[in-house]
Amino acid sequence: MKTETQPDYQAVTETQRATWASGDFHEIARQNVVMAEALCEAADPHPGERVLDVACGSGTAALVAARRYCDVAGIDYVPALIERGRGRAAAEGLEVDFRVGDAQALPFADASFDVVLSIYGVQFAPDQEKAAGELLRVCRPGGRIALASPMPKGWSGDFFATHGRYNPPPPGVKPPLRWGTEEGVAELLGEGSRSVENEPRRALQYYRSVEHAVDVFTAYFGPTIRAAEVAGAEGRERLREDLEAVFTRYNRATDASAVVENTYLLTVATRA
Ligand SMILES: C[S@@+](CC[C@H](N)C(=O)[O-])C[C@H]1O[C@@H](n2cnc3c(N)ncnc32)[C@H](O)[C@@H]1O
Repeated sequence: MKTETQPDYQAVTETQRATWASGDFHEIARQNVVMAEALCEAADPHPGERVLDVACGSGTAALVAARRYCDVAGIDYVPALIERGRGRAAAEGLEVDFRVGDAQALPFADASFDVVLSIYGVQFAPDQEKAAGELLRVCRPGGRIALASPMPKGWSGDFFATHGRYNPPPPGVKPPLRWGTEEGVAELLGEGSRSVENEPRRALQYYRSVEHAVDVFTAYFGPTIRAAEVAGAEGRERLREDLEAVFTRYNRATDASAVVENTYLLTVATRA
């Protein structure tokens, strides 16, 4: 009988960590504020509840919860982003327990949190079953796991597919877009949850122009930086053109600016 060999998740995680560290996601995170607000509205953490933001980047969702007087922790495996998060919290006079760590091995005890959040974060962990198990493990029974996940259809799907043409995904690793499908998220969280509710939601991203949008991603988004490196000098120009085409496809502005429509899956799972 043929057995499937498992990908080397540790090696893939290390490559991905280096990729995210090569950019500065904080410069892009402003576009995620609207998703952070939507997640907190959906999961509704109350003052005093314990909230974890997984793969928090510079802490955009963590800060929304902290403004509600929740007791908040945020974890990401890029130390520079955790430092950014600490700086943002200090600037607002908020307290957040920001820590460096991996979404596939959360450094928290079982049932430590009432609410667990992740925006386009945990979805990138290569060992999806392990990462989903960690979300469920640290959430208390009856607690809420709220996710904003990239969907295969729409800007996110086209954007990540474009990157994949230049820097193919590691063999055997399931795509992050799996979290953005009802079937995928049910496979990942269904067994440990009392209920899993999904709703596609729209989020607009604002740039001075389509060219400016591509400039921002080329300068600061780790996966774009990596795809450009792999593409080489010639491929880089084509990558840029392809990305401009994706941003243009979803641009809803009627002036010279870019108002890019993204559709994401908002999931709220209630822990069994
Ligand atoms: C698209 S950014 C989103 C960041 C943040 N959630 C936000 O909305 O601003 C993806 C983030 O996931 C982090 N990340 C990806 N895989 C991770 C993992 N296995 N463990 C911890 N962080 C991870 C990256 O470092 C990056 O900060």
